[in-house]
Amino acid sequence: MDRPVRLLFVCLGNICRSPLAEGIFRHLVREAGLEHAFEIDSAGTGSWHVGERPDSRMTATAGRYGVVLSGAARQFTAADLDAWDHILVMDRDNLHDVLFLDPSGDRSEHVRLFREYDPDPGDLQVPDPYYGGPEGFENVYAIAERTARALLGALVAHYGLKAD
Ligand code: 4NP
Repeated sequence: MDRPVRLLFVCLGNICRSPLAEGIFRHLVREAGLEHAFEIDSAGTGSWHVGERPDSRMTATAGRYGVVLSGAARQFTAADLDAWDHILVMDRDNLHDVLFLDPSGDRSEHVRLFREYDPDPGDLQVPDPYYGGPEGFENVYAIAERTARALLGALVAHYGLKAD
């Protein structure tokens, strides 16, 4: 690959799960000396939280592990289908909403459930922690951390990426 690999993480609100996956992936990429090799962003299929910072409970959980969540929520659009090499969605509702924007099916073969990369997938969906208690945020963190690590390993192998 002679340009950065473009990765987009997608959930419903773009304030909990996808900013977390984005933040953890950025953190792992920095640790691995691979910042030159990736462009990373996240988006939500819904518009309710557009412009908001990541959820304070999710930010606090990530912060305890040294992971900083940044950015402001934005809504996923059909143009995103063509702008990214890999689109990783958090649950099947997200998958449905993203695929709905591609009625022909020609522009979405690079759309996957994020947890297809989970080395320990009880379920292929990342549960939405928004309306639950603190343990939901911890659980989502653990899922996203091991899945992001495995995803990075798979992409490094697939593209033959080398550290700076
Ligand atoms: P996220 O969590 O999709 O992980 O960002 C949610 C945030 C907000 C809402 C739902 C899920 N909401 O309905 O407002």
